[in-house]
Amino acid sequence: MRNRGRTGTALVTGASSGIGREIARVLAERGYDLVISARRVERLEQLAGELRDRWGAGVTLAPADLSAPEGPDVLMAEVGGHGLALDVLVNCAGTGNPAPFHLTSWEEHQRTIQLMALSPARLIHLLMPGMLERGYGRVVCVCSGAVWVPGLPFHGFYAPTKGFLYKLTQTLAVEYAGSGVTFSATLPGFTESEMLDLSGARHMTDKMPSYMVAPTRQVAVETVDACLSGRVSHTHTWFNRLVFGVMKHAPSRYAHLMMLRERDRLQADLDASSAPAPAVESVRI
Ligand SMILES: NC(=O)c1ccc[n+]([C@@H]2O[C@H](COP(=O)([O-])OP(=O)(O)OC[C@H]3O[C@@H](n4cnc5c(N)ncnc54)[C@H](OP(=O)(O)O)[C@@H]3O)[C@@H](O)[C@H]2O)c1
Repeated sequence: MRNRGRTGTALVTGASSGIGREIARVLAERGYDLVISARRVERLEQLAGELRDRWGAGVTLAPADLSAPEGPDVLMAEVGGHGLALDVLVNCAGTGNPAPFHLTSWEEHQRTIQLMALSPARLIHLLMPGMLERGYGRVVCVCSGAVWVPGLPFHGFYAPTKGFLYKLTQTLAVEYAGSGVTFSATLPGFTESEMLDLSGARHMTDKMPSYMVAPTRQVAVETVDACLSGRVSHTHTWFNRLVFGVMKHAPSRYAHLMMLRERDRLQADLDASSAPAPAVESVRI
């Protein structure tokens, strides 16, 4: 239950690492109690201890596999069981497994679509009635600058599901304007987290100047700011605003040519990789 004097209660998915974990810390700092979700329970327990000791936050663990269709309901059963009314939803869980589209099993594609599109949408759908009834709610989906890139080769449903989520938040932001419930999307570019290893981008980001890879803390603070202020869309860092701005407005033929070059580079990476290509089944699930 909510601690006396706390600001409200926020659910953060993907809270076991990276951006989601940092968002949970920022929300606790700002006086929120937390429901934290991911699959790695020991990581959630560690974070819960930190948030309770450091910020006096009330923390509920709601472990769930959001790549399974029943994941959001399992999560919400945990929340319902604790009698918690949620004021803030942060949809942050995600993953990225580079592999050629046709060599990835259909079941793996389905898990990606569930995790990155359907589960966040289902959580929004489950939480909205309560938020609307109370006349207050803040929803943010951590999308990606990939939304502006014309095709992300070897990342299958990553960009399509981020685009889905981005359009969904935009749609709901308009439909429910004035209701007290707001919908935001944030669009990070490269951000320091485990995702860089999972998505095979680490070797590239290691060679980049620091302004091209955002610190997790900065992305988390900006995500929380955008969410609480009800900003519809936010792109992180000046560098990403510049790059994605160019991508967004470049004639599609040139943008496509740029991505063809990227395809060749990624293909060479996959060919050179010592890991058995495509290592998708073993990475996360
Ligand atoms: N890092 C970047 O460069 C970057 C750029 C643009 C957008 N993003 C987006 O930012 C979000 C957070 O990513 P991150 O960079 O913080 O990566 P991360 O450190 O790998 O964190 C991903 C989080 O998602 C959770 N997750 C993964 N699969 C899950 C599943 N099946 N069920 C439930 N939870 C699951 C992970 O927890 P468990 O493994 O414990 O379940 C983890 O807490 C993602 O949506 C990602 O697409 C990241």
